[in-house]
Amino acid sequence: MELSFRSHFLLSALFWCLVHSPAFGLEKPYIVYLGSHAHGPEPTGADIESATNSHYDLLGSYLGSNEKAQEAIFYSYTHHINGFAAILEEDQAAEIAKHPDVLSVFLSKGRKLQTTRSWHFLGLERNGVIHQSSILRKARFGEDTIIGNLDTGVWPESKSFSDEGMGPIPGKWRGICQRGIKDDFSCNRKLIGARYFNKGYAAYAGRLNYTFYTARDHRGHGSHTLSTAGGSFVPGANVFGYGNGTAKGGSPRARVVAYKVCWPPIHQKKCFDADILLGFDAAISDGVDVLSVSLVGDPEEFFRDSIAIGSFHAARNGIVVVSSAGNSGPQPGTVCNVAPWMITVAASTIDREFTTYVALGDKQRLKGSSLSANGLPSNKLYPLISGADAKITNVSAAKALRCLAGTLDHKKVKGKILACLREYGTVDEGHQAALAGAVGMVLANDEASGNDIFVAQAYVLPAAHISFLDGKVLFTYINSTKFPVAHITRVKTMLNTTPAPIVASFSSRGPNTVEPAILKPDITAPGVNIIAANTLAVGPTGEDFDKRRTPFKAASGTSMSCPHVSGIVGLLKTLYPSWSPAAIQSAIMTTASTRDNKVEPVHDSSLVKATPFSYGDGHIQPSRAMDPGLVYDLTVNDYLDFLCARGYDESQLRSFTNEIHACPKHFNVADMNYPSITVPNLNGTVVVTRRVRNVGTPGTYYVRIKAPAGVSVSVQPQSLVFERFDEEKEFKVVLKPKVAGKPVDYVFGRLIWSDGVHYVRSPLVVKHQ
Ligand SMILES: *[C@@H]1O[C@H](CO)[C@@H](O)[C@H](O)[C@H]1NC(C)=O
Ligand SMILES: *[C@@H]1O[C@H](CO)[C@@H](O)[C@H](O)[C@H]1NC(C)=O
Ligand SMILES: *[C@@H]1O[C@H](CO)[C@@H](O)[C@H](O)[C@H]1NC(C)=O
Ligand SMILES: *[C@@H]1O[C@H](CO)[C@@H](O)[C@H](O)[C@H]1NC(C)=O
Ligand SMILES: *[C@@H]1O[C@H](CO)[C@@H](O)[C@H](O)[C@H]1NC(C)=O
Repeated sequence: MELSFRSHFLLSALFWCLVHSPAFGLEKPYIVYLGSHAHGPEPTGADIESATNSHYDLLGSYLGSNEKAQEAIFYSYTHHINGFAAILEEDQAAEIAKHPDVLSVFLSKGRKLQTTRSWHFLGLERNGVIHQSSILRKARFGEDTIIGNLDTGVWPESKSFSDEGMGPIPGKWRGICQRGIKDDFSCNRKLIGARYFNKGYAAYAGRLNYTFYTARDHRGHGSHTLSTAGGSFVPGANVFGYGNGTAKGGSPRARVVAYKVCWPPIHQKKCFDADILLGFDAAISDGVDVLSVSLVGDPEEFFRDSIAIGSFHAARNGIVVVSSAGNSGPQPGTVCNVAPWMITVAASTIDREFTTYVALGDKQRLKGSSLSANGLPSNKLYPLISGADAKITNVSAAKALRCLAGTLDHKKVKGKILACLREYGTVDEGHQAALAGAVGMVLANDEASGNDIFVAQAYVLPAAHISFLDGKVLFTYINSTKFPVAHITRVKTMLNTTPAPIVASFSSRGPNTVEPAILKPDITAPGVNIIAANTLAVGPTGEDFDKRRTPFKAASGTSMSCPHVSGIVGLLKTLYPSWSPAAIQSAIMTTASTRDNKVEPVHDSSLVKATPFSYGDGHIQPSRAMDPGLVYDLTVNDYLDFLCARGYDESQLRSFTNEIHACPKHFNVADMNYPSITVPNLNGTVVVTRRVRNVGTPGTYYVRIKAPAGVSVSVQPQSLVFERFDEEKEFKVVLKPKVAGKPVDYVFGRLIWSDGVHYVRSPLVVKHQ
């Protein structure tokens, strides 16, 4: 299964895809999912042994002996998640799926892997100064919270994981710091734990050498995401001097834990379901409060999706799971991680750009973005040549225009600025231009990428990334001039840029293709040019040819926006330790903003108005999230009612939770108490029910509605009086299609409860049948 890309070539997100050709014959690694264990949340050694034995017995009854089962099973999930991962043949897997105790059997698939300013932009600080009223101070910088991260591991020596000034490790922590083989990996009072899981990977990769037995981050992805969620204060953090400031996570005093489930690519797949599921099981029993999961896969039915399964068990144990929406936008229906029991995060820009200008010989100036370390050697005009004009004889001009490997004539390029047309995944951070001897590079978007030049790359030579329209100007100039010349100015860090945020084009969009009645993504957060900790194992581009080493790097993707939300969740957890994951999710969603820093509606990168399919409830506003007024709360029972409505029967749900759940007779998915309201098939009058709980002061809330076009919306009652803290009230939303002008596509509106101080917003998303 391939995701269709029209996005950036250096996005840091992890993708999963079906692996079509595993390394061995008919046998493949499968996950046999059995739901929850009969034993309690803190199993004894005997409980774990008995769980493991029950797995051997179950599989043994199919394979003919307990010994064969022991050989086939490479993981038993024994703590919270009940199930095992085993090497099986396809027909064996199909047989086992029929067993009454088995909820699902699915292939352990792989996924592709793909600062300083963002907290200012989110209002946690003003130009580095953290005010008394900041949620950071009120929530004591997240000091009581433990944040876990499922990713590529961590670089433990990074200053972002320094434990200077941190007190003793919280008593609730039950995890370990797994030592590496031939790796001096150690934890401290900041990085309190680490584990690695590689057997699901080995099922494809074969025998692994010692470099696979460590939680150390050799890619840079996990160090970046974990430090964004909970990194310590590091003054003077920058990338080649750009974006200089104090790096920190959203919860800078939180404790952090790395669960390494991603490894070097095998056919571009890096993180495998069997490992991910064990990572979840370990994190739950270790006692994390928040799990940050910057991994995405193709949307799948919940019981066949390792992240949906793992996050259900996590949420049931009070853990908030935050995940990435994916980097497959801007096409509709691309959003991943669509289960209602996790927070799904889109990515948007902040008010900082890394700007450079291309000055042409005819005095035209084109604006570009870049994070090139150096400027051109001298302040003069250099000869400019297009890739097409620099081609070797036996390749097409079209190919050479893309500056692909082996298409450029070094004699023609040497000492010049090379102009290239960008193609997804091909122009490798200027590597080809540098190899061909260019002094600089101008990289123009192709038509598909349009105006989106927000992502600044750490090119290995002085370079500027320009828009498609400016590319036309550039190539027209080159064509019309005998001796074209140009200069590229040194990169400047520009602050307070407008408009911001803008939803990044790469950010995956709704609707939710698994359950259209649940809006996804839920929220957007900074995910473009985010500066955070790097590994010292690879350079800032992550490519082998990049021999530079930087303790911080800039990265873009929903992988970067996800840990911003995880960090904020860490603060909320410190403030409100008793709140359910759903209450925290609601607080974050209903207080989000749909306006940018010009007080205009947030835009998509195409500069049209963004919709909830791009940003969910809107852009995160942390200081509002700590005082939401009302929350839409949910319990595990609500999630189970939701699954009933989706067609799961009571015996499946009984295995899932190991508890009896009676499915309600009449329950509509749209009635689940989610903070957004989606009716994907409005075929007459539809009544949606919601409950809100008062987490603020007593008061009266009045409703305000912005009805979607062609839909009449009324709310009963129109006001809610709360006499006490924690009181819960129900209301109904009645939606009716207007006869005239019935739209066939999705339309969007808003429902707001306000007491004059709090604004509790929910998007209304409607499609007529
Ligand atoms: C370990 O295995 C990987 C993948 O096969 C290989 O690239 C690497 O060079 C090996 N390292 C050592 C030290 O053997
Ligand atoms: C970054 O800022 C710090 C503190 O403000 C300053 O000491 C340092 O010189 C700056 N570094 C760069 C590269 O600008
Ligand atoms: C073009 O010719 C060169 C030198 O003869 C050769 O190395 C290269 O592979 C050829 N490229 C293509 C695309 O045919
Ligand atoms: C420049 O000239 C090339 C080759 O003649 C042509 O293919 C291309 O379309 C021209 N570009 C512009 C922008 O005029
Ligand atoms: C609307 O759709 C629902 C579910 O598809 C169906 O049960 C119901 O009968 C429909 N109502 C009308 C008025 O067509």
